[in-house]
Amino acid sequence: MIRLPEKLNILLLGSGGREHAIAAAIARSPRLDHLYIAPGNAGTAALGENIDIDPDNFGALKKIVLDKQIGMVVVGPELPLVHGIVDFFHEDDMLAHLPIIGPSGEGARLEGSKDYAKAFMQRHGIPTAAYQTFTRDNIDEGYRFIESLSAPYVLKADGLAAGKGVVILNSEAEAKAELAKMLGGKFGAAGSRVVIEQYLSGIECSVFVATDGTNYVLLPEAKDYKRIGEGDTGLNTGGMGAVSPVPFADSEFMRKVEERIVAPTVAGLAQENIDYRGFVFVGLMNVGGDPYVIEYNVRMGDPETEVVMPRIASDVVDMFEAMYMRTLDSYELKVHDGYTVTVMCVSEGYPEAYQKGFVMSGLEEAEAEGATLFHAGTAVKEGEIVTAGGRVICATSTAPTMQQALDKSFNAVAKINYQGKYYRRDIGKDLQ
Ligand code: AMP
Ligand code: GLY
Repeated sequence: MIRLPEKLNILLLGSGGREHAIAAAIARSPRLDHLYIAPGNAGTAALGENIDIDPDNFGALKKIVLDKQIGMVVVGPELPLVHGIVDFFHEDDMLAHLPIIGPSGEGARLEGSKDYAKAFMQRHGIPTAAYQTFTRDNIDEGYRFIESLSAPYVLKADGLAAGKGVVILNSEAEAKAELAKMLGGKFGAAGSRVVIEQYLSGIECSVFVATDGTNYVLLPEAKDYKRIGEGDTGLNTGGMGAVSPVPFADSEFMRKVEERIVAPTVAGLAQENIDYRGFVFVGLMNVGGDPYVIEYNVRMGDPETEVVMPRIASDVVDMFEAMYMRTLDSYELKVHDGYTVTVMCVSEGYPEAYQKGFVMSGLEEAEAEGATLFHAGTAVKEGEIVTAGGRVICATSTAPTMQQALDKSFNAVAKINYQGKYYRRDIGKDLQ
């Protein structure tokens, strides 16, 4: 079997808590030579060298890859994937043989277009909410479709809309008005098509799959907490915390997920000749014990990665290699026992307007509580760590019980100081 060199310089793209957690997993591998992160944050700077380049600037990335003799590229966020970074590498003479972890642009459409994802699921018999897609040309049919459904109404902008493209409404009149707004340009081009779908009632769960396009490995599942307020109230955020494993995702439920969703998804990619050597993140709803796909993402979740990566006991660089070399059938995933949780600290005002640049302290004291900190939005300014995003930093802990892990993370978070710190105190509460 052909293998990549034993030691590799690795370039990781992204700057969030997800990337800090991936960087930490890579840094544990004896196969790592030097780690570079573009652009990274104050946390990743402790594990490798941050390079101030936008992951969407493919030309600048090519230069770095050649300058630094990079032997593997790992793509964290969705945007460069949807913009075709993998195809850019494969089509460039100097980069064509460089392992890059992530799906091709065609594969990334599973996240880049909700209509494409729904049609893919229909073609492959994958359970998901019934839907129809509308454009400005058939808006009247959209109104009729809304009339045929009952409340609540789920409207989704087709394209990427920074996590804001899903609107759930309780009255028919509001749903029709929203359809007109979306098709009228509320989300720009992302809303030129709108998917309207049946509302699914249940509890959500995030399932992560590493695939080489034919074989797959099921990574630990997780549950994230999307709303800003305790008791799942208020606006949607990127995620306020996560836990893994998910108690309701027992072996019977996961068997259904694998049989009905994961296996047919990967088989569908193979059948359609889609080059997909990356992660599939299936956002699903447990509806009375049966899983339905809410959405696909073509990257790992954030903050789910901050609980999934620490649970992986086997070498992730070996896993990336097997994904790229299409030998995932011979990779043995090992997972740590126990519960891993993370609690996210955000900036006051998030997910709406917030200020940044506040000096942070107490990070060492937080880690002394037995938690690992993953930086989400931090930067180094004049030698000090400052806030640099809406989601700022999270505290991940592992323990034999979920409550013990939560206690450690909450104790750690209490030690972190910066102006306007906010976090949810009810992470994991609904699962106990
Ligand atoms: P998405 O951006 O697709 O993850 O959707 C955002 C959130 O909207 C999801 O996390 C769900 O909580 C909710 N959602 C999306 N689709 C549906 C649906 N068909 N039924 C109920 N809730 C949904
Ligand atoms: N936590 C959800 C996401 O990464 O999209």
